[in-house]
Amino acid sequence: MKKEFLDLGKQPIANKFINDGEFDNEFLFDLKAVYDDETKLVSLKEFVAPELMFNESYAYHASMSETMKDHFGYLANRLQKEYRPNNVLEIGSNDGIFIRHFNPSTTIAVEPCKNFADMTSDMEYKTYAEFWTSELSRLIKQEHGTMDLIYAANCICHIHDLDDTFTAVRNLLSENGIFVFEDPSLIRMMERGSYDQLYDEHAHIFSVTALQNILRRNDLEIFRVDNLNVHGGSNRIYVKATSNRYQEVDNSVGYNLSKEDEFGLNDFKTYQLFSDRVKKSKEDLVSTLKQLKQEGKKVIAYGAASKVTTVFNYCGIDKSLVEYITDTTPSKIGKYQPGTHIPIISPEDGFNESVDVAYLGAWNFRTEIMNKETDYLSRGGKFITHVPQVMMF
Ligand code: TYD
Repeated sequence: MKKEFLDLGKQPIANKFINDGEFDNEFLFDLKAVYDDETKLVSLKEFVAPELMFNESYAYHASMSETMKDHFGYLANRLQKEYRPNNVLEIGSNDGIFIRHFNPSTTIAVEPCKNFADMTSDMEYKTYAEFWTSELSRLIKQEHGTMDLIYAANCICHIHDLDDTFTAVRNLLSENGIFVFEDPSLIRMMERGSYDQLYDEHAHIFSVTALQNILRRNDLEIFRVDNLNVHGGSNRIYVKATSNRYQEVDNSVGYNLSKEDEFGLNDFKTYQLFSDRVKKSKEDLVSTLKQLKQEGKKVIAYGAASKVTTVFNYCGIDKSLVEYITDTTPSKIGKYQPGTHIPIISPEDGFNESVDVAYLGAWNFRTEIMNKETDYLSRGGKFITHVPQVMMF
């Protein structure tokens, strides 16, 4: 049975940055989270139609961050060395940040957002500009045979029907093939109070426990889990066919399952406590911003991440509290944040001496940003975050 535990109010499509003149009739939906006490899966109560989110104007450009470029470059080399795949398929290849490290003649991309699919096609990778389904997996198997490595980053948690997703993977895996995927981690979200991991695209926030339950019923088994720092705490899950005796199950699997149980992820009460913490976070953030306003401080936001869409819409933060948002992504600059309609401008235009406090929207890149913004910090500029609780630094 699915039980609701969190209500983040009416929310827009988090990555659909809008133009002046498009403010009316914006699509909004009820952002609520539920816990399934059978599988232990945390999901959105209401899913948004994939075509509304993932299309030719999708804005999230993975290569905008040096941290992510290093992350995927390092991983691609490690997977090649450790598992020596003869061929590779990536589900949700975005701008090619991961597959660019593999040979185009033995690597396939699947990417429903046409603007990004065109980029990997131009890089000579066979790219299917389609959503990942068991039908597509059958077609790819017919055309290219089975795959030794199937990889996906920040993509599987976007897909509503996980049974179909995993059936599709199982169908395409070679006998000793592996499926590796990484997505934000539920335990990290709960520990950090980072409720902003919840937005339209994140149909689910995965625990290892829930994944194990759903993978198992699709003849797949987790054999290793890496805990990662990226995206505010993610898990990289390594999966094999249940019939594959070649890969041994690593201790990291049992370790993560018991940590999740100890934390209380299998107990609905934990989710109710999380909801109370989120309400308190909202009160604290709004009162701090109001106080700064009264003191005459200029407050902006740094990074127009999807996560900021959740926070500002949930907390009712608009231009009167945060003047604008700076972001390095060319396709976001000159547009407006979904829902709140706060303008987005380039850091060159907006991150200057006039700023007193910057809400750190891209809090998951805190180290990268702190290293970059030493001038701002040394002249007394401050950042504000809500993770793990509302604070300035
Ligand atoms: P990110 O946290 O990657 O994604 P999500 O949309 O999944 O929440 O988004 C970070 C945003 O911050 C992205 O639009 C790029 C921007 N950004 C900057 O403007 N400056 C920076 O130095 C960094 C690291 C990111």
